[in-house]
Amino acid sequence: MSRANALSRTEDDAPTDVLVIGGGIIGLAVAWRTAQRGLRVAVVDPAPGGGAARVAAGMLAPVTELQYGEEPLLRLGMASNERYAAFTAELTELTGLDTGYRVTGTLAVALDADDKAELSELHAFHQRLGLASDWLSGREARRLEPMLAPGVRGGLLVTGDHQVDGRRLAAALVRACELSGVLLHRAEAVELLVEDDRATGVRLGTGERLLAARTVLAAGARSHLLPGLPPGVLPAIRPVKGQILRLRIPAAYRPFLSRNVRAVVRGGHLYLVPRADGELVVGATTEEQGHDTTVTAGGVYELLRDAHELVPGITELPLVETGAGLRPGSPDNAPLLGPTALPGLVAATGHYRNGVLLTPVTGDLLAEYLADGTLPERAAPFSPDRFALRSLV
Ligand code: GLY
Repeated sequence: MSRANALSRTEDDAPTDVLVIGGGIIGLAVAWRTAQRGLRVAVVDPAPGGGAARVAAGMLAPVTELQYGEEPLLRLGMASNERYAAFTAELTELTGLDTGYRVTGTLAVALDADDKAELSELHAFHQRLGLASDWLSGREARRLEPMLAPGVRGGLLVTGDHQVDGRRLAAALVRACELSGVLLHRAEAVELLVEDDRATGVRLGTGERLLAARTVLAAGARSHLLPGLPPGVLPAIRPVKGQILRLRIPAAYRPFLSRNVRAVVRGGHLYLVPRADGELVVGATTEEQGHDTTVTAGGVYELLRDAHELVPGITELPLVETGAGLRPGSPDNAPLLGPTALPGLVAATGHYRNGVLLTPVTGDLLAEYLADGTLPERAAPFSPDRFALRSLV
Protein backbone atom coordinates (compact mmCIF):
# COMPACT_ATOMS: atom_id res chain seq x y z
CA MET A 1 0.00 0.00 0.00
CA SER A 2 1.30 3.46 -0.83
CA ARG A 3 2.14 5.90 1.96
CA ALA A 4 -0.76 8.17 0.97
CA ASN A 5 -3.22 5.30 1.11
CA ALA A 6 -1.96 4.24 4.51
CA LEU A 7 -2.43 7.76 5.84
CA SER A 8 -5.89 8.18 4.37
CA ARG A 9 -7.33 5.36 6.46
CA THR A 10 -10.03 6.45 8.84
CA GLU A 11 -11.57 5.11 12.06
CA ASP A 12 -11.31 1.44 11.16
CA ASP A 13 -7.59 1.56 10.50
CA ALA A 14 -4.33 2.58 12.13
CA PRO A 15 -4.43 6.21 13.22
CA THR A 16 -2.19 8.93 11.88
CA ASP A 17 0.47 10.10 14.36
CA VAL A 18 -0.29 13.80 14.04
CA LEU A 19 -3.32 15.48 12.53
CA VAL A 20 -3.04 19.24 12.00
CA ILE A 21 -6.27 21.25 11.84
CA GLY A 22 -5.53 24.30 9.68
CA GLY A 23 -3.35 24.51 6.60
CA GLY A 24 -2.18 28.10 6.94
CA ILE A 25 1.56 28.68 7.13
CA ILE A 26 1.71 27.77 10.84
CA GLY A 27 -0.10 24.45 10.40
CA LEU A 28 1.90 23.61 7.27
CA ALA A 29 5.24 24.40 8.91
CA VAL A 30 4.35 22.19 11.89
CA ALA A 31 3.25 19.41 9.53
CA TRP A 32 6.35 19.63 7.34
CA ARG A 33 8.85 19.75 10.20
CA THR A 34 7.04 16.90 12.01
CA ALA A 35 6.99 14.70 8.90
CA GLN A 36 10.73 15.33 8.54
CA ARG A 37 11.12 13.68 11.94
CA GLY A 38 9.55 10.48 10.63
CA LEU A 39 6.00 10.83 11.97
CA ARG A 40 2.91 10.15 9.88
CA VAL A 41 1.22 13.53 9.46
CA ALA A 42 -2.00 14.77 7.88
CA VAL A 43 -3.44 18.28 7.51
CA VAL A 44 -7.14 19.15 7.32
CA ASP A 45 -8.06 22.35 5.48
CA PRO A 46 -10.46 23.06 2.60
CA ALA A 47 -7.76 25.21 0.91
CA PRO A 48 -4.24 24.52 2.24
CA GLY A 49 -1.96 27.52 1.83
CA GLY A 50 -4.83 29.98 2.42
CA GLY A 51 -5.39 31.88 5.64
CA ALA A 52 -4.05 35.16 6.94
CA ALA A 53 -0.65 34.78 5.21
CA ARG A 54 -2.33 35.44 1.86
CA VAL A 55 -3.04 38.95 3.03
CA ALA A 56 0.04 39.59 5.21
CA ALA A 57 2.75 42.00 4.09
CA GLY A 58 5.38 39.54 5.35
CA MET A 59 7.50 41.96 7.31
CA LEU A 60 9.91 40.09 9.59
CA ALA A 61 10.18 42.78 12.19
CA PRO A 62 10.87 41.57 15.75
CA VAL A 63 12.87 44.71 16.55
CA THR A 64 10.82 47.44 14.85
CA GLU A 65 7.50 45.96 16.12
CA LEU A 66 8.80 45.56 19.69
CA GLN A 67 6.31 46.55 22.41
CA TYR A 68 7.07 47.23 26.08
CA GLY A 69 6.56 44.16 28.26
CA GLU A 70 6.93 41.74 25.35
CA GLU A 71 10.57 40.73 25.80
CA PRO A 72 9.82 36.94 25.79
CA LEU A 73 8.02 37.45 22.48
CA LEU A 74 10.98 39.46 21.21
CA ARG A 75 13.32 36.56 22.00
CA LEU A 76 11.02 34.12 20.19
CA GLY A 77 10.77 36.50 17.22
CA MET A 78 14.54 36.97 17.09
CA ALA A 79 15.05 33.20 17.19
CA SER A 80 12.63 32.79 14.29
CA ASN A 81 14.16 35.65 12.33
CA GLU A 82 17.57 34.03 12.67
CA ARG A 83 16.17 30.80 11.21
CA TYR A 84 14.51 32.47 8.21
CA ALA A 85 17.38 32.38 5.72
CA ALA A 86 18.07 28.67 6.26
CA PHE A 87 14.34 27.82 6.50
CA THR A 88 13.48 29.45 3.17
CA ALA A 89 16.65 28.12 1.48
CA GLU A 90 15.67 24.59 2.54
CA LEU A 91 12.13 25.10 1.25
CA THR A 92 13.39 26.38 -2.09
CA GLU A 93 15.90 23.58 -2.45
CA LEU A 94 13.18 20.98 -1.78
CA THR A 95 10.37 22.51 -3.84
CA GLY A 96 12.09 24.67 -6.46
CA LEU A 97 9.78 27.52 -5.35
CA ASP A 98 10.96 30.98 -4.38
CA THR A 99 9.55 32.30 -1.07
CA GLY A 100 10.34 35.97 -1.70
CA TYR A 101 12.62 36.08 1.37
CA ARG A 102 14.57 39.29 0.99
CA VAL A 103 17.26 40.81 3.18
CA THR A 104 16.33 44.49 3.11
CA GLY A 105 16.37 45.88 6.64
CA THR A 106 13.66 48.25 7.86
CA LEU A 107 13.53 52.01 8.33
CA ALA A 108 11.03 53.30 10.90
CA VAL A 109 10.41 57.02 10.49
CA ALA A 110 8.79 59.86 12.43
CA LEU A 111 6.55 62.38 10.71
CA ASP A 112 6.11 64.89 13.53
CA ALA A 113 7.54 65.84 16.92
CA ASP A 114 5.32 63.34 18.82
CA ASP A 115 6.33 60.48 16.51
CA LYS A 116 9.94 61.49 16.94
CA ALA A 117 9.65 61.35 20.72
CA GLU A 118 8.00 57.90 20.51
CA LEU A 119 10.60 56.60 18.06
CA SER A 120 13.46 57.86 20.19
CA GLU A 121 11.95 56.01 23.19
CA LEU A 122 11.87 52.87 21.09
CA HIS A 123 15.52 53.48 20.21
CA ALA A 124 16.42 53.83 23.90
CA PHE A 125 14.53 50.59 24.62
CA HIS A 126 16.48 48.85 21.83
CA GLN A 127 19.72 50.10 23.33
CA ARG A 128 18.82 48.85 26.81
CA LEU A 129 18.14 45.42 25.31
CA GLY A 130 21.33 45.49 23.20
CA LEU A 131 19.42 45.38 19.90
CA ALA A 132 20.97 46.71 16.71
CA SER A 133 19.20 49.91 15.66
CA ASP A 134 20.65 53.24 14.53
CA TRP A 135 19.15 56.69 14.93
CA LEU A 136 19.08 58.81 11.76
CA SER A 137 18.25 62.46 11.19
CA GLY A 138 15.44 63.26 8.75
CA ARG A 139 18.04 64.11 6.12
CA GLU A 140 19.88 60.81 6.62
CA ALA A 141 16.60 58.88 6.39
CA ARG A 142 15.75 60.64 3.10
CA ARG A 143 19.22 59.95 1.77
CA LEU A 144 18.49 56.23 2.22
CA GLU A 145 14.93 56.52 0.88
CA PRO A 146 14.60 59.56 -1.39
CA MET A 147 10.84 59.01 -1.89
CA LEU A 148 10.13 59.85 1.77
CA ALA A 149 8.23 63.07 2.45
CA PRO A 150 10.48 66.11 2.95
CA GLY A 151 8.96 66.66 6.42
CA VAL A 152 10.25 63.36 7.88
CA ARG A 153 11.83 64.28 11.24
CA GLY A 154 14.01 61.29 11.94
CA GLY A 155 14.31 57.54 11.60
CA LEU A 156 15.48 54.32 13.11
CA LEU A 157 17.39 51.97 10.84
CA VAL A 158 17.10 48.32 11.83
CA THR A 159 19.27 46.31 9.49
CA GLY A 160 18.10 42.91 10.82
CA ASP A 161 14.33 43.21 10.09
CA HIS A 162 13.63 41.78 6.63
CA GLN A 163 10.70 40.43 4.58
CA VAL A 164 9.18 37.35 2.96
CA ASP A 165 6.22 36.95 0.59
CA GLY A 166 3.44 35.23 2.57
CA ARG A 167 1.75 33.83 -0.55
CA ARG A 168 4.92 32.37 -1.99
CA LEU A 169 5.87 31.00 1.40
CA ALA A 170 2.48 29.31 1.73
CA ALA A 171 2.74 27.76 -1.75
CA ALA A 172 6.24 26.44 -0.99
CA LEU A 173 5.06 24.96 2.32
CA VAL A 174 2.13 23.18 0.63
CA ARG A 175 4.55 21.65 -1.88
CA ALA A 176 7.08 20.77 0.85
CA CYS A 177 4.34 18.96 2.76
CA GLU A 178 3.31 17.02 -0.34
CA LEU A 179 6.92 16.06 -1.06
CA SER A 180 7.48 15.00 2.56
CA GLY A 181 4.54 12.59 2.69
CA VAL A 182 2.06 14.81 4.55
CA LEU A 183 -1.47 13.92 3.51
CA LEU A 184 -3.56 17.01 2.74
CA HIS A 185 -7.28 16.49 3.36
CA ARG A 186 -8.96 19.30 1.43
CA ALA A 187 -12.04 19.38 3.65
CA GLU A 188 -13.54 21.25 6.58
CA ALA A 189 -12.96 19.98 10.13
CA VAL A 190 -16.42 20.27 11.70
CA GLU A 191 -15.87 18.61 15.07
CA LEU A 192 -13.03 17.72 17.39
CA LEU A 193 -13.42 14.10 18.46
CA VAL A 194 -12.93 13.50 22.19
CA GLU A 195 -13.09 10.06 23.76
CA ASP A 196 -12.38 9.26 27.42
CA ASP A 197 -11.23 12.85 27.99
CA ARG A 198 -8.68 12.66 25.18
CA ALA A 199 -8.66 14.30 21.73
CA THR A 200 -8.69 11.54 19.14
CA GLY A 201 -9.05 13.36 15.82
CA VAL A 202 -11.71 15.19 13.83
CA ARG A 203 -14.91 14.68 11.94
CA LEU A 204 -14.94 16.23 8.48
CA GLY A 205 -17.82 17.99 6.75
CA THR A 206 -18.15 14.88 4.59
CA GLY A 207 -18.95 12.86 7.74
CA GLU A 208 -15.59 11.04 7.56
CA ARG A 209 -13.73 10.63 10.87
CA LEU A 210 -9.96 11.00 10.93
CA LEU A 211 -8.21 9.57 13.96
CA ALA A 212 -4.79 10.54 15.23
CA ALA A 213 -2.61 10.01 18.27
CA ARG A 214 -2.16 13.79 18.56
CA THR A 215 -4.24 16.61 17.08
CA VAL A 216 -2.70 20.04 16.52
CA LEU A 217 -5.06 23.00 16.48
CA ALA A 218 -3.64 25.61 14.09
CA ALA A 219 -6.82 27.21 12.83
CA GLY A 220 -5.88 30.86 13.42
CA ALA A 221 -8.69 33.15 14.53
CA ARG A 222 -11.19 30.26 14.43
CA SER A 223 -9.16 27.90 16.64
CA HIS A 224 -11.33 28.15 19.76
CA LEU A 225 -14.56 27.87 17.77
CA LEU A 226 -14.13 24.24 16.68
CA PRO A 227 -17.23 22.33 17.82
CA GLY A 228 -16.37 19.57 20.28
CA LEU A 229 -13.56 21.54 21.93
CA PRO A 230 -14.30 21.31 25.68
CA PRO A 231 -14.80 24.69 27.39
CA GLY A 232 -11.72 26.22 29.03
CA VAL A 233 -9.16 24.27 26.97
CA LEU A 234 -8.29 27.31 24.85
CA PRO A 235 -8.93 30.97 25.60
CA ALA A 236 -11.01 32.92 23.09
CA ILE A 237 -8.87 34.04 20.17
CA ARG A 238 -9.91 37.49 18.94
CA PRO A 239 -10.01 38.14 15.22
CA VAL A 240 -8.17 41.41 14.55
CA LYS A 241 -8.89 42.59 11.05
CA GLY A 242 -6.15 44.05 8.90
CA GLN A 243 -6.89 45.68 5.56
CA ILE A 244 -4.02 45.88 3.12
CA LEU A 245 -3.28 47.27 -0.35
CA ARG A 246 -1.08 45.95 -3.14
CA LEU A 247 0.36 48.40 -5.63
CA ARG A 248 2.71 47.88 -8.55
CA ILE A 249 5.90 49.82 -9.02
CA PRO A 250 6.42 50.29 -12.77
CA ALA A 251 9.98 49.46 -13.91
CA ALA A 252 10.74 53.13 -14.60
CA TYR A 253 10.05 54.05 -10.94
CA ARG A 254 12.19 51.35 -9.33
CA PRO A 255 13.56 50.91 -6.81
CA PHE A 256 10.99 53.44 -5.41
CA LEU A 257 11.77 52.06 -1.92
CA SER A 258 14.79 49.87 -1.13
CA ARG A 259 13.74 48.55 2.27
CA ASN A 260 10.64 48.16 4.46
CA VAL A 261 9.48 51.57 5.62
CA ARG A 262 7.18 52.02 8.57
CA ALA A 263 5.74 54.76 10.72
CA VAL A 264 3.11 55.35 13.34
CA VAL A 265 0.60 57.71 11.76
CA ARG A 266 -2.32 58.98 13.87
CA GLY A 267 -1.70 56.12 16.30
CA GLY A 268 -1.92 53.38 13.63
CA HIS A 269 0.92 51.21 12.36
CA LEU A 270 1.63 51.91 8.71
CA TYR A 271 4.16 49.97 6.68
CA LEU A 272 5.29 49.76 3.09
CA VAL A 273 6.97 46.57 1.95
CA PRO A 274 8.63 46.68 -1.49
CA ARG A 275 9.12 43.26 -3.05
CA ALA A 276 11.78 42.25 -5.54
CA ASP A 277 9.12 41.62 -8.22
CA GLY A 278 7.89 45.24 -8.10
CA GLU A 279 4.92 44.71 -5.79
CA LEU A 280 4.49 47.26 -2.99
CA VAL A 281 2.34 46.18 -0.06
CA VAL A 282 0.82 48.89 2.13
CA GLY A 283 -0.69 47.84 5.45
CA ALA A 284 -2.45 47.62 7.69
CA THR A 285 -5.53 48.63 9.59
CA THR A 286 -6.19 47.16 13.04
CA GLU A 287 -9.91 46.61 13.64
CA GLU A 288 -11.71 44.49 16.20
CA GLN A 289 -15.19 43.71 14.92
CA GLY A 290 -15.52 39.96 14.72
CA HIS A 291 -15.03 37.64 11.79
CA ASP A 292 -15.58 40.26 9.12
CA THR A 293 -13.17 40.55 6.19
CA THR A 294 -14.97 43.21 4.17
CA VAL A 295 -12.69 45.72 2.49
CA THR A 296 -14.13 49.13 3.30
CA ALA A 297 -13.79 52.49 1.59
CA GLY A 298 -12.73 53.91 4.96
CA GLY A 299 -9.96 51.34 5.40
CA VAL A 300 -8.56 51.93 1.92
CA TYR A 301 -8.84 55.70 2.35
CA GLU A 302 -7.02 55.61 5.69
CA LEU A 303 -4.15 53.54 4.28
CA LEU A 304 -3.76 55.69 1.17
CA ARG A 305 -4.03 58.94 3.15
CA ASP A 306 -1.35 57.87 5.64
CA ALA A 307 0.90 56.30 3.01
CA HIS A 308 0.66 59.49 0.93
CA GLU A 309 1.74 61.53 3.94
CA LEU A 310 4.78 59.28 4.34
CA VAL A 311 5.67 58.73 0.67
CA PRO A 312 3.78 61.29 -1.49
CA GLY A 313 4.73 59.60 -4.80
CA ILE A 314 2.65 56.56 -3.90
CA THR A 315 -0.46 58.04 -5.51
CA GLU A 316 1.22 57.66 -8.94
CA LEU A 317 1.36 53.87 -8.61
CA PRO A 318 -1.26 51.47 -9.99
CA LEU A 319 -3.41 49.98 -7.21
CA VAL A 320 -3.82 46.31 -8.09
CA GLU A 321 -5.46 44.68 -5.10
CA THR A 322 -7.15 45.34 -1.80
CA GLY A 323 -7.75 42.68 0.85
CA ALA A 324 -8.45 41.99 4.48
CA GLY A 325 -7.41 39.19 6.82
CA LEU A 326 -7.84 38.26 10.47
CA ARG A 327 -4.93 38.18 12.89
CA PRO A 328 -5.50 35.60 15.62
CA GLY A 329 -5.05 37.55 18.86
CA SER A 330 -4.67 35.64 22.14
CA PRO A 331 -5.54 37.44 25.43
CA ASP A 332 -1.88 38.50 25.86
CA ASN A 333 -1.10 38.77 22.12
CA ALA A 334 1.50 35.99 22.35
CA PRO A 335 1.09 32.60 20.70
CA LEU A 336 -0.13 29.38 22.28
CA LEU A 337 2.45 26.68 21.67
CA GLY A 338 2.35 23.13 22.98
CA PRO A 339 0.11 20.70 24.83
CA THR A 340 -3.25 21.88 26.12
CA ALA A 341 -5.19 20.79 29.20
CA LEU A 342 -6.95 18.21 26.97
CA PRO A 343 -4.62 15.22 26.52
CA GLY A 344 -3.89 14.57 22.85
CA LEU A 345 -4.60 18.18 21.83
CA VAL A 346 -1.71 20.50 21.03
CA ALA A 347 -2.01 24.22 20.20
CA ALA A 348 -0.14 26.22 17.57
CA THR A 349 -2.25 29.34 17.35
CA GLY A 350 -2.76 32.91 18.60
CA HIS A 351 0.23 34.37 16.71
CA TYR A 352 -1.54 37.74 16.34
CA ARG A 353 0.68 40.21 14.39
CA ASN A 354 3.59 37.77 14.19
CA GLY A 355 2.37 34.70 12.32
CA VAL A 356 4.70 35.05 9.35
CA LEU A 357 7.69 35.92 11.52
CA LEU A 358 7.09 33.04 13.93
CA THR A 359 6.47 30.34 11.33
CA PRO A 360 9.98 28.74 11.31
CA VAL A 361 10.36 28.64 15.08
CA THR A 362 6.80 27.38 15.60
CA GLY A 363 7.39 24.55 13.12
CA ASP A 364 10.65 23.57 14.81
CA LEU A 365 9.42 23.76 18.42
CA LEU A 366 6.20 21.89 17.78
CA ALA A 367 7.93 19.19 15.72
CA GLU A 368 10.42 18.72 18.54
CA TYR A 369 7.62 18.37 21.05
CA LEU A 370 5.60 16.00 18.85
CA ALA A 371 8.59 13.81 18.09
CA ASP A 372 10.32 13.77 21.50
CA GLY A 373 7.46 14.43 23.92
CA THR A 374 9.23 17.32 25.66
CA LEU A 375 8.29 20.94 25.07
CA PRO A 376 11.52 22.86 24.35
CA GLU A 377 12.48 25.49 26.94
CA ARG A 378 12.05 28.28 24.40
CA ALA A 379 8.33 27.47 24.12
CA ALA A 380 7.71 27.40 27.89
CA PRO A 381 6.55 31.06 28.20
CA PHE A 382 3.96 30.35 25.50
CA SER A 383 2.37 27.24 26.99
CA PRO A 384 -1.44 27.29 26.61
CA ASP A 385 -1.55 26.47 30.35
CA ARG A 386 -0.79 30.07 31.23
CA PHE A 387 -4.42 31.01 30.66
CA ALA A 388 -5.83 28.02 32.52
CA LEU A 389 -3.62 28.87 35.53
CA ARG A 390 -4.68 32.51 35.44
CA SER A 391 -8.37 31.63 35.52
CA LEU A 392 -7.82 29.26 38.49
CA VAL A 393 -6.07 32.01 40.46
N1 GLY B 1 2.73 42.37 11.53
C1 GLY B 1 1.99 43.32 10.85
C2 GLY B 1 0.56 43.35 11.12
O1 GLY B 1 0.02 42.53 11.82
O2 GLY B 1 -0.09 44.23 10.60
